[in-house]
Amino acid sequence: MPARLLIEGGVPLRGTVAVSAAKNAALPALAAGLLTAEPLAFLNVPDLQDVRTMVRLLETLGARIQRDGVRVRVQVAHVVGDVAPYELVSTMRASVLVLGPLVARHGSARVALPGGCAIGPRPIDQHLKGLARLGAEIAIENGYIVARASRLKGAHIATDLVTVTGTENLMMAAALAQGTTVIENAAREPEVSDLARLLNAMGARIQGAGTARIEIEGVTELGTATHTIIPDRIEAGTLIVAGAITGGDVAVTGVVPDHITAVLAKLEECGVGLEVAPDRVRVRGPERPRPTDVTTSPYPGFPTDMQAQLMTLLGLADGQSRVTETIFENRFMQAAELVRMGARIETEGSTAIIRGVPFYQGAPVMASDLRASAALVLAGLAARGATEVSRVYHLDRGYERLEAKLRSLGAHIERRT
Ligand code: EPU
Repeated sequence: MPARLLIEGGVPLRGTVAVSAAKNAALPALAAGLLTAEPLAFLNVPDLQDVRTMVRLLETLGARIQRDGVRVRVQVAHVVGDVAPYELVSTMRASVLVLGPLVARHGSARVALPGGCAIGPRPIDQHLKGLARLGAEIAIENGYIVARASRLKGAHIATDLVTVTGTENLMMAAALAQGTTVIENAAREPEVSDLARLLNAMGARIQGAGTARIEIEGVTELGTATHTIIPDRIEAGTLIVAGAITGGDVAVTGVVPDHITAVLAKLEECGVGLEVAPDRVRVRGPERPRPTDVTTSPYPGFPTDMQAQLMTLLGLADGQSRVTETIFENRFMQAAELVRMGARIETEGSTAIIRGVPFYQGAPVMASDLRASAALVLAGLAARGATEVSRVYHLDRGYERLEAKLRSLGAHIERRT
Protein backbone atom coordinates (compact mmCIF):
# COMPACT_ATOMS: atom_id res chain seq x y z
CA MET A 1 0.00 0.00 0.00
CA PRO A 2 1.35 3.49 -0.81
CA ALA A 3 2.54 5.52 2.20
CA ARG A 4 -0.01 7.38 4.31
CA LEU A 5 0.29 9.78 7.20
CA LEU A 6 -1.75 9.11 10.32
CA ILE A 7 -2.40 12.18 12.46
CA GLU A 8 -4.06 12.35 15.83
CA GLY A 9 -5.09 16.00 15.97
CA GLY A 10 -5.56 18.54 18.68
CA VAL A 11 -2.02 18.83 20.07
CA PRO A 12 -0.75 22.44 20.30
CA LEU A 13 2.71 22.38 18.69
CA ARG A 14 5.59 23.71 20.76
CA GLY A 15 9.30 24.10 20.17
CA THR A 16 11.78 25.17 17.54
CA VAL A 17 12.02 23.90 13.98
CA ALA A 18 14.42 24.77 11.17
CA VAL A 19 13.40 25.15 7.54
CA SER A 20 15.29 23.39 4.76
CA ALA A 21 16.71 24.93 1.60
CA ALA A 22 14.14 25.90 -1.01
CA LYS A 23 12.99 23.24 -3.46
CA ASN A 24 12.17 25.84 -6.10
CA ALA A 25 15.62 27.42 -5.80
CA ALA A 26 17.46 24.08 -5.72
CA LEU A 27 15.92 22.82 -8.98
CA PRO A 28 17.12 25.69 -11.24
CA ALA A 29 20.45 25.82 -9.37
CA LEU A 30 21.11 22.16 -10.18
CA ALA A 31 20.07 22.70 -13.80
CA ALA A 32 22.63 25.54 -13.97
CA GLY A 33 25.26 22.82 -13.64
CA LEU A 34 24.67 22.19 -17.37
CA LEU A 35 26.08 25.62 -18.21
CA THR A 36 29.68 24.82 -17.31
CA ALA A 37 32.24 22.02 -17.56
CA GLU A 38 33.51 22.97 -14.11
CA PRO A 39 32.05 21.71 -10.84
CA LEU A 40 29.39 23.50 -8.80
CA ALA A 41 29.32 22.94 -5.05
CA PHE A 42 26.05 23.40 -3.20
CA LEU A 43 26.30 23.62 0.57
CA ASN A 44 22.65 22.79 1.29
CA VAL A 45 20.38 20.86 -1.02
CA PRO A 46 17.13 19.48 0.38
CA ASP A 47 16.62 15.74 0.11
CA LEU A 48 13.34 15.65 -1.80
CA GLN A 49 11.77 13.56 -4.53
CA ASP A 50 11.84 16.49 -6.98
CA VAL A 51 15.54 17.02 -6.31
CA ARG A 52 16.17 13.31 -6.92
CA THR A 53 14.26 13.56 -10.20
CA MET A 54 16.39 16.52 -11.29
CA VAL A 55 19.54 14.62 -10.32
CA ARG A 56 18.44 11.63 -12.43
CA LEU A 57 17.68 13.90 -15.36
CA LEU A 58 21.06 15.65 -15.15
CA GLU A 59 22.83 12.29 -14.92
CA THR A 60 21.20 11.16 -18.17
CA LEU A 61 22.64 14.34 -19.74
CA GLY A 62 26.18 13.58 -18.56
CA ALA A 63 26.36 15.04 -15.03
CA ARG A 64 28.42 13.48 -12.25
CA ILE A 65 26.64 14.23 -9.02
CA GLN A 66 27.87 13.45 -5.53
CA ARG A 67 25.84 13.99 -2.39
CA ASP A 68 27.40 14.10 1.06
CA GLY A 69 24.64 14.88 3.54
CA VAL A 70 23.18 18.22 2.51
CA ARG A 71 26.17 19.05 0.30
CA VAL A 72 25.93 18.29 -3.39
CA ARG A 73 28.58 18.57 -6.09
CA VAL A 74 27.52 18.71 -9.73
CA GLN A 75 29.84 18.52 -12.70
CA VAL A 76 28.92 18.22 -16.34
CA ALA A 77 32.35 17.91 -17.93
CA HIS A 78 30.70 16.90 -21.22
CA VAL A 79 27.06 17.04 -22.18
CA VAL A 80 26.38 13.53 -23.45
CA GLY A 81 22.73 13.79 -24.40
CA ASP A 82 20.12 16.41 -25.06
CA VAL A 83 16.91 14.61 -24.20
CA ALA A 84 14.67 15.25 -21.20
CA PRO A 85 12.46 12.17 -21.54
CA TYR A 86 8.70 12.15 -21.08
CA GLU A 87 9.03 9.66 -18.23
CA LEU A 88 10.83 12.30 -16.12
CA VAL A 89 9.12 15.46 -17.38
CA SER A 90 5.70 13.94 -16.73
CA THR A 91 6.58 13.37 -13.06
CA MET A 92 8.18 16.80 -12.64
CA ARG A 93 7.38 19.80 -14.82
CA ALA A 94 10.45 21.67 -13.53
CA SER A 95 12.46 19.31 -15.79
CA VAL A 96 11.85 21.98 -18.42
CA LEU A 97 14.59 23.99 -16.62
CA VAL A 98 17.21 22.04 -18.59
CA LEU A 99 15.93 23.49 -21.87
CA GLY A 100 17.65 26.90 -21.72
CA PRO A 101 21.00 25.62 -20.41
CA LEU A 102 21.15 22.76 -22.94
CA VAL A 103 20.50 24.98 -25.94
CA ALA A 104 22.96 27.57 -24.67
CA ARG A 105 25.85 25.20 -23.99
CA HIS A 106 25.17 22.19 -26.20
CA GLY A 107 23.34 23.83 -29.11
CA SER A 108 20.33 21.53 -28.93
CA ALA A 109 17.70 20.20 -26.57
CA ARG A 110 14.81 17.81 -26.82
CA VAL A 111 12.46 18.18 -23.90
CA ALA A 112 9.16 16.34 -23.61
CA LEU A 113 6.21 18.73 -23.62
CA PRO A 114 4.92 18.68 -20.06
CA GLY A 115 1.18 18.72 -20.89
CA GLY A 116 -1.35 19.45 -18.17
CA CYS A 117 -1.06 18.64 -14.50
CA ALA A 118 -3.33 18.46 -11.48
CA ILE A 119 -3.30 22.22 -10.89
CA GLY A 120 -3.95 23.27 -14.49
CA PRO A 121 -2.76 23.16 -18.11
CA ARG A 122 0.45 25.11 -17.35
CA PRO A 123 1.76 25.84 -20.84
CA ILE A 124 5.42 26.77 -21.47
CA ASP A 125 4.83 29.01 -24.47
CA GLN A 126 6.67 31.92 -22.83
CA HIS A 127 9.82 29.82 -22.38
CA LEU A 128 9.70 28.91 -26.08
CA LYS A 129 8.85 32.41 -27.29
CA GLY A 130 11.77 33.81 -25.30
CA LEU A 131 14.21 31.20 -26.60
CA ALA A 132 13.06 31.92 -30.14
CA ARG A 133 13.79 35.61 -29.50
CA LEU A 134 17.31 34.53 -28.52
CA GLY A 135 17.63 32.89 -31.94
CA ALA A 136 16.77 29.27 -31.18
CA GLU A 137 14.85 27.31 -33.78
CA ILE A 138 11.95 25.65 -32.07
CA ALA A 139 9.84 22.78 -33.35
CA ILE A 140 7.43 20.33 -31.78
CA GLU A 141 8.14 16.75 -32.86
CA ASN A 142 6.36 13.69 -31.49
CA GLY A 143 5.46 15.34 -28.21
CA TYR A 144 8.90 16.83 -27.76
CA ILE A 145 10.11 20.41 -27.98
CA VAL A 146 13.15 20.41 -30.20
CA ALA A 147 15.29 23.54 -29.83
CA ARG A 148 18.48 24.26 -31.75
CA ALA A 149 20.92 27.15 -31.99
CA SER A 150 24.58 27.43 -32.89
CA ARG A 151 25.06 30.42 -30.57
CA LEU A 152 22.19 32.25 -28.95
CA LYS A 153 22.06 36.00 -29.47
CA GLY A 154 21.03 38.58 -26.89
CA ALA A 155 17.56 40.04 -27.41
CA HIS A 156 14.85 42.13 -25.83
CA ILE A 157 12.22 39.80 -24.37
CA ALA A 158 8.94 40.94 -22.84
CA THR A 159 7.01 38.01 -21.46
CA ASP A 160 3.22 38.16 -21.78
CA LEU A 161 2.81 37.03 -18.19
CA VAL A 162 4.98 36.58 -15.16
CA THR A 163 6.56 33.14 -15.20
CA VAL A 164 9.03 31.91 -12.60
CA THR A 165 10.69 28.97 -14.36
CA GLY A 166 10.31 30.82 -17.68
CA THR A 167 12.36 33.73 -16.33
CA GLU A 168 14.91 31.25 -14.94
CA ASN A 169 15.21 29.34 -18.21
CA LEU A 170 15.72 32.53 -20.21
CA MET A 171 18.19 33.97 -17.72
CA MET A 172 20.30 30.78 -17.92
CA ALA A 173 20.16 30.71 -21.72
CA ALA A 174 21.00 34.41 -22.03
CA ALA A 175 23.97 34.06 -19.67
CA LEU A 176 25.87 32.29 -22.49
CA ALA A 177 24.37 34.24 -25.40
CA GLN A 178 26.29 36.66 -27.55
CA GLY A 179 25.38 40.20 -26.53
CA THR A 180 22.92 41.68 -24.09
CA THR A 181 19.48 40.36 -23.21
CA VAL A 182 16.78 42.26 -21.39
CA ILE A 183 13.87 40.36 -19.84
CA GLU A 184 10.89 42.63 -19.15
CA ASN A 185 7.99 41.52 -16.95
CA ALA A 186 10.41 39.12 -15.27
CA ALA A 187 9.36 37.14 -12.22
CA ARG A 188 10.63 38.78 -9.01
CA GLU A 189 10.53 35.67 -6.82
CA PRO A 190 13.47 35.20 -4.40
CA GLU A 191 14.27 31.94 -6.23
CA VAL A 192 14.97 33.95 -9.41
CA SER A 193 17.31 36.25 -7.47
CA ASP A 194 19.02 33.23 -5.91
CA LEU A 195 19.67 31.74 -9.34
CA ALA A 196 21.09 35.06 -10.57
CA ARG A 197 23.40 35.11 -7.53
CA LEU A 198 24.65 31.63 -8.44
CA LEU A 199 25.08 32.48 -12.13
CA ASN A 200 26.99 35.66 -11.27
CA ALA A 201 29.26 33.64 -8.96
CA MET A 202 29.89 31.39 -12.01
CA GLY A 203 30.97 34.45 -14.01
CA ALA A 204 27.68 35.61 -15.55
CA ARG A 205 26.82 39.30 -15.79
CA ILE A 206 23.26 39.67 -14.60
CA GLN A 207 21.69 42.78 -13.12
CA GLY A 208 18.20 43.53 -11.90
CA ALA A 209 17.16 40.06 -10.69
CA GLY A 210 14.44 40.63 -8.12
CA THR A 211 12.96 43.42 -10.24
CA ALA A 212 10.72 43.15 -13.31
CA ARG A 213 13.61 44.06 -15.63
CA ILE A 214 16.63 41.78 -15.75
CA GLU A 215 19.62 42.64 -17.90
CA ILE A 216 22.06 39.91 -18.88
CA GLU A 217 25.31 40.56 -20.67
CA GLY A 218 26.27 37.25 -22.26
CA VAL A 219 29.69 35.69 -21.65
CA THR A 220 31.44 32.92 -23.58
CA GLU A 221 32.04 30.64 -20.62
CA LEU A 222 30.90 30.05 -17.09
CA GLY A 223 32.94 28.42 -14.35
CA THR A 224 32.98 26.89 -10.90
CA ALA A 225 31.11 28.29 -7.90
CA THR A 226 30.07 27.41 -4.37
CA HIS A 227 26.52 28.28 -3.47
CA THR A 228 24.20 28.26 -0.47
CA ILE A 229 20.57 27.94 -1.50
CA ILE A 230 18.02 30.26 0.13
CA PRO A 231 15.62 28.86 2.76
CA ASP A 232 12.28 27.49 1.62
CA ARG A 233 9.76 30.28 2.17
CA ILE A 234 6.81 27.98 1.46
CA GLU A 235 7.98 25.38 3.97
CA ALA A 236 8.48 28.24 6.44
CA GLY A 237 4.95 29.50 5.82
CA THR A 238 3.53 25.99 6.18
CA LEU A 239 5.27 25.45 9.53
CA ILE A 240 4.14 28.86 10.78
CA VAL A 241 0.53 27.97 9.93
CA ALA A 242 1.05 24.64 11.74
CA GLY A 243 1.97 26.56 14.90
CA ALA A 244 -0.96 28.94 14.46
CA ILE A 245 -3.67 26.41 13.60
CA THR A 246 -2.89 24.23 16.62
CA GLY A 247 -2.86 27.22 18.97
CA GLY A 248 0.77 26.42 19.66
CA ASP A 249 3.98 28.31 20.29
CA VAL A 250 6.59 27.57 17.64
CA ALA A 251 9.83 29.23 16.57
CA VAL A 252 10.56 28.63 12.89
CA THR A 253 14.25 29.26 12.30
CA GLY A 254 16.49 29.77 9.29
CA VAL A 255 13.87 31.86 7.48
CA VAL A 256 14.25 35.11 5.58
CA PRO A 257 11.23 37.04 6.89
CA ASP A 258 11.47 39.48 3.95
CA HIS A 259 10.59 36.59 1.63
CA ILE A 260 7.29 35.96 3.42
CA THR A 261 6.10 39.51 4.08
CA ALA A 262 2.74 38.95 2.37
CA VAL A 263 2.15 35.68 4.25
CA LEU A 264 3.03 37.22 7.62
CA ALA A 265 0.77 40.21 6.93
CA LYS A 266 -2.21 37.92 6.20
CA LEU A 267 -1.55 35.82 9.28
CA GLU A 268 -1.45 38.97 11.39
CA GLU A 269 -4.82 39.98 9.94
CA CYS A 270 -6.07 36.60 11.14
CA GLY A 271 -4.97 37.42 14.66
CA VAL A 272 -1.96 35.11 14.67
CA GLY A 273 0.69 36.31 17.13
CA LEU A 274 4.03 36.79 15.36
CA GLU A 275 7.43 37.85 16.60
CA VAL A 276 9.77 38.44 13.70
CA ALA A 277 13.56 38.42 14.12
CA PRO A 278 16.17 38.57 11.31
CA ASP A 279 16.29 34.79 10.81
CA ARG A 280 13.31 33.42 12.71
CA VAL A 281 9.60 33.83 13.24
CA ARG A 282 7.92 32.90 16.49
CA VAL A 283 4.25 32.12 16.10
CA ARG A 284 1.61 31.87 18.79
CA GLY A 285 -1.77 30.63 17.74
CA PRO A 286 -4.89 32.65 18.33
CA GLU A 287 -7.82 31.14 20.26
CA ARG A 288 -9.65 31.29 16.98
CA PRO A 289 -8.45 32.90 13.73
CA ARG A 290 -10.19 35.99 12.37
CA PRO A 291 -11.53 35.78 8.81
CA THR A 292 -9.87 37.64 5.96
CA ASP A 293 -9.81 37.84 2.18
CA VAL A 294 -6.80 36.97 0.09
CA THR A 295 -5.91 36.98 -3.60
CA THR A 296 -2.83 35.16 -4.86
CA SER A 297 -0.40 36.99 -7.13
CA PRO A 298 3.21 36.80 -8.28
CA TYR A 299 5.88 37.82 -5.76
CA PRO A 300 5.85 39.98 -3.71
CA GLY A 301 2.11 39.22 -3.52
CA PHE A 302 0.54 36.37 -1.60
CA PRO A 303 1.99 33.15 -3.09
CA THR A 304 -0.22 30.56 -4.75
CA ASP A 305 1.95 27.96 -3.03
CA MET A 306 0.57 29.13 0.37
CA GLN A 307 -3.06 29.50 -0.70
CA ALA A 308 -4.18 25.99 0.34
CA GLN A 309 -2.51 26.22 3.75
CA LEU A 310 -4.10 29.62 4.48
CA MET A 311 -7.49 28.26 3.39
CA THR A 312 -7.16 25.53 6.01
CA LEU A 313 -6.59 28.17 8.68
CA LEU A 314 -9.48 30.33 7.43
CA GLY A 315 -11.74 27.29 7.54
CA LEU A 316 -11.59 27.60 11.33
CA ALA A 317 -12.04 31.40 11.44
CA ASP A 318 -14.77 33.18 13.29
CA GLY A 319 -16.61 34.42 10.18
CA GLN A 320 -16.51 34.41 6.40
CA SER A 321 -13.40 34.64 4.22
CA ARG A 322 -12.86 34.77 0.49
CA VAL A 323 -9.84 33.26 -1.28
CA THR A 324 -9.16 34.11 -4.93
CA GLU A 325 -6.60 32.12 -6.91
CA THR A 326 -5.20 33.97 -9.91
CA ILE A 327 -2.14 31.91 -10.86
CA PHE A 328 -3.45 28.40 -11.53
CA GLU A 329 -6.84 27.23 -12.82
CA ASN A 330 -7.39 24.26 -10.58
CA ARG A 331 -5.78 24.89 -7.26
CA PHE A 332 -8.63 24.35 -4.83
CA MET A 333 -8.19 20.59 -4.56
CA GLN A 334 -7.94 20.82 -0.79
CA ALA A 335 -11.39 22.43 -0.55
CA ALA A 336 -13.48 19.32 -1.20
CA GLU A 337 -11.33 17.30 1.20
CA LEU A 338 -11.58 19.99 3.90
CA VAL A 339 -15.36 19.84 3.48
CA ARG A 340 -15.12 16.14 4.30
CA MET A 341 -13.49 17.22 7.57
CA GLY A 342 -16.39 19.54 8.37
CA ALA A 343 -15.31 22.75 6.64
CA ARG A 344 -17.90 24.97 4.93
CA ILE A 345 -16.32 25.98 1.65
CA GLU A 346 -17.95 26.77 -1.65
CA THR A 347 -15.85 27.30 -4.73
CA GLU A 348 -16.96 29.10 -7.83
CA GLY A 349 -14.36 29.45 -10.55
CA SER A 350 -11.30 31.03 -9.06
CA THR A 351 -12.97 32.09 -5.81
CA ALA A 352 -13.67 30.17 -2.65
CA ILE A 353 -16.06 31.38 0.03
CA ILE A 354 -15.16 29.95 3.41
CA ARG A 355 -17.56 30.10 6.33
CA GLY A 356 -15.51 29.28 9.38
CA VAL A 357 -16.44 26.33 11.60
CA PRO A 358 -15.25 25.92 15.20
CA PHE A 359 -13.40 22.66 14.57
CA TYR A 360 -12.48 20.05 11.96
CA GLN A 361 -13.17 16.35 12.37
CA GLY A 362 -10.55 13.78 11.50
CA ALA A 363 -11.22 11.87 8.27
CA PRO A 364 -9.42 9.93 5.55
CA VAL A 365 -8.35 12.47 2.90
CA MET A 366 -6.15 12.74 -0.16
CA ALA A 367 -5.02 15.29 -2.73
CA SER A 368 -3.08 15.23 -5.97
CA ASP A 369 -1.04 18.35 -5.45
CA LEU A 370 1.86 19.08 -3.13
CA ARG A 371 0.46 22.16 -1.42
CA ALA A 372 -3.09 20.80 -1.17
CA SER A 373 -1.61 17.76 0.59
CA ALA A 374 0.24 20.05 3.02
CA ALA A 375 -3.04 21.84 3.70
CA LEU A 376 -4.66 18.52 4.64
CA VAL A 377 -1.83 17.71 7.05
CA LEU A 378 -2.43 21.09 8.71
CA ALA A 379 -6.14 20.33 8.97
CA GLY A 380 -5.32 16.95 10.50
CA LEU A 381 -3.08 18.58 13.11
CA ALA A 382 -5.94 20.83 14.19
CA ALA A 383 -8.77 18.30 13.90
CA ARG A 384 -10.57 16.37 16.59
CA GLY A 385 -9.75 12.71 16.13
CA ALA A 386 -7.70 10.83 13.59
CA THR A 387 -6.92 11.91 10.03
CA GLU A 388 -5.30 9.71 7.43
CA VAL A 389 -3.64 11.57 4.55
CA SER A 390 -2.96 9.28 1.62
CA ARG A 391 -0.87 9.94 -1.53
CA VAL A 392 1.99 11.13 0.68
CA TYR A 393 4.27 10.96 -2.35
CA HIS A 394 3.01 14.43 -3.24
CA LEU A 395 4.32 15.77 0.07
CA ASP A 396 7.62 13.95 -0.38
CA ARG A 397 8.18 15.84 -3.63
CA GLY A 398 8.55 19.12 -1.81
CA TYR A 399 8.79 18.84 1.98
CA GLU A 400 11.91 17.43 3.58
CA ARG A 401 11.06 15.16 6.53
CA LEU A 402 7.81 17.02 7.20
CA GLU A 403 6.40 14.49 9.63
CA ALA A 404 9.70 14.27 11.56
CA LYS A 405 9.77 18.04 11.89
CA LEU A 406 6.15 18.16 13.07
CA ARG A 407 6.78 15.27 15.47
CA SER A 408 9.69 17.19 17.00
CA LEU A 409 7.13 19.88 17.86
CA GLY A 410 4.93 17.35 19.62
CA ALA A 411 2.56 16.41 16.81
CA HIS A 412 1.11 12.90 16.85
CA ILE A 413 1.91 12.00 13.28
CA GLU A 414 3.35 8.86 11.80
CA ARG A 415 3.93 7.31 8.42
CA ARG A 416 2.44 3.95 7.51
CA THR A 417 3.44 2.03 4.46
N1 EPU B 1 2.29 30.18 -17.87
C1 EPU B 1 1.95 30.25 -19.20
N2 EPU B 1 2.94 30.11 -20.13
C2 EPU B 1 4.25 29.92 -19.79
C3 EPU B 1 4.58 29.83 -18.42
C4 EPU B 1 3.58 29.98 -17.48
O1 EPU B 1 0.78 30.45 -19.56
O2 EPU B 1 5.09 29.79 -20.69
C5 EPU B 1 1.24 30.35 -16.86
C6 EPU B 1 1.06 29.11 -15.99
O3 EPU B 1 0.18 28.18 -16.58
C7 EPU B 1 0.51 29.69 -14.71
C8 EPU B 1 1.25 31.05 -14.63
O4 EPU B 1 1.66 31.34 -15.94
O5 EPU B 1 -0.86 29.92 -14.85
C9 EPU B 1 2.45 31.08 -13.70
O6 EPU B 1 3.28 29.96 -13.95
P1 EPU B 1 4.85 29.92 -13.67
O7 EPU B 1 5.54 29.66 -14.96
O8 EPU B 1 5.26 31.12 -12.88
O9 EPU B 1 4.96 28.61 -12.76
P2 EPU B 1 6.15 27.61 -12.79
O10 EPU B 1 7.40 28.36 -13.07
O11 EPU B 1 5.81 26.44 -13.62
C10 EPU B 1 6.84 27.90 -10.28
C11 EPU B 1 6.96 26.97 -9.10
C12 EPU B 1 5.58 26.56 -8.64
C13 EPU B 1 4.80 27.84 -8.27
C14 EPU B 1 4.75 28.78 -9.47
C15 EPU B 1 4.08 30.11 -9.18
C16 EPU B 1 9.10 25.92 -9.52
C17 EPU B 1 9.86 24.70 -9.85
N3 EPU B 1 7.76 25.83 -9.48
O12 EPU B 1 6.17 27.13 -11.28
O13 EPU B 1 5.74 25.75 -7.49
O14 EPU B 1 3.49 27.51 -7.88
O15 EPU B 1 6.09 29.06 -9.93
O16 EPU B 1 4.71 30.76 -8.15
O17 EPU B 1 9.69 26.96 -9.25
C18 EPU B 1 5.12 24.14 -5.90
O18 EPU B 1 6.25 24.28 -5.39
O19 EPU B 1 4.20 23.50 -5.33
C19 EPU B 1 4.85 24.75 -7.19
C20 EPU B 1 3.82 24.37 -7.98
